[in-house]
Amino acid sequence: TPSVKTFFFDREFPFEPGQFVMVWVPGVDEIPMALSSANSITVQKVGDATGAMFDLEPDAPLGIRGPFGNGFTRGEKMLAIAGGVGAAPILPLARSDCVMTMLLGARTEKELLFVDQLDESTDVIIATDDGTLGQHGFVTDLMKDISLAAYDRIAVCGPEPMMSAVLSKIDSVGLASKTEFSLHRYMKCGVGICGSCCIDPDGLRVCRDGPIFSGELLRKSEFGHYSRDASGRKKNI
Ligand SMILES: Cc1cc2nc3c(=O)[nH]c(=O)nc-3n(C[C@H](O)[C@H](O)[C@H](O)COP(=O)(O)OP(=O)(O)OC[C@H]3O[C@@H](n4cnc5c(N)ncnc54)[C@H](O)[C@@H]3O)c2cc1C
Ligand code: FES
Repeated sequence: TPSVKTFFFDREFPFEPGQFVMVWVPGVDEIPMALSSANSITVQKVGDATGAMFDLEPDAPLGIRGPFGNGFTRGEKMLAIAGGVGAAPILPLARSDCVMTMLLGARTEKELLFVDQLDESTDVIIATDDGTLGQHGFVTDLMKDISLAAYDRIAVCGPEPMMSAVLSKIDSVGLASKTEFSLHRYMKCGVGICGSCCIDPDGLRVCRDGPIFSGELLRKSEFGHYSRDASGRKKNI
């Protein structure tokens, strides 16, 4: 899409959908990215490292450490809810045939990811903020038209304000314990040593204890309220 590119590697990594790798962009930084397949990451350009990746030539070297962290718990009848580049860790889950319904949102039609990558075993329902495809509105608006209780597991990834709105709706119908969210936090080591990705109040490490957490756990945490920058300072979500 105009703001997102998928980078394919020349080797595959055994992984669980939801796991991430640390991507070293030589001379710039090392950043966490979910695997969107065994040999790819799908990257939104937001700053220094992702910007430098967009300038790479085909066949340029990247360093990859991982896969790290946990994956989504699979169910028999899953609902997936994805917003923007949050569709990246959801794609391999949907391709493993356990996702019955996927609610997929983006700002505009041109920014929708992976619509042509999903087969007919997944019912894809689309919302765009500007109404250029699917329902006009946020992906969370689609939740009122489906029976959430019909699914045994719910997997969610997207911008934190969107995931926080999903958690409020899910919690109001008592389904927080069967819903999992992929959390994005600033990371340095990616392997549980430095503490830069810890979340309040229990100090759980997103890189090691997550990045997938249950709604039940997140509703009593900093999730949806604030995160921390590279120096540990709080910034509001
Ligand atoms: C487990 C995990 C999986 C991720 N998977 C993906 C993915 O599949 N695709 C993708 O595009 N991005 C993903 N991210 C987010 C990605 O790591 C950041 O966008 C990236 O680190 C930004 O680096 P930068 O140098 O380009 O931006 P910077 O110059 O560091 O920052 C630019 C902006 O991005 C924000 N930012 C920095 N780090 C993060 C972060 N970790 N999460 C959210 N915002 C951040 C900053 O606050 C700033 O506003 C993931 C993050 C985590 C923790
Ligand atoms: S990034 Fe170092 S502990 Fe998580």
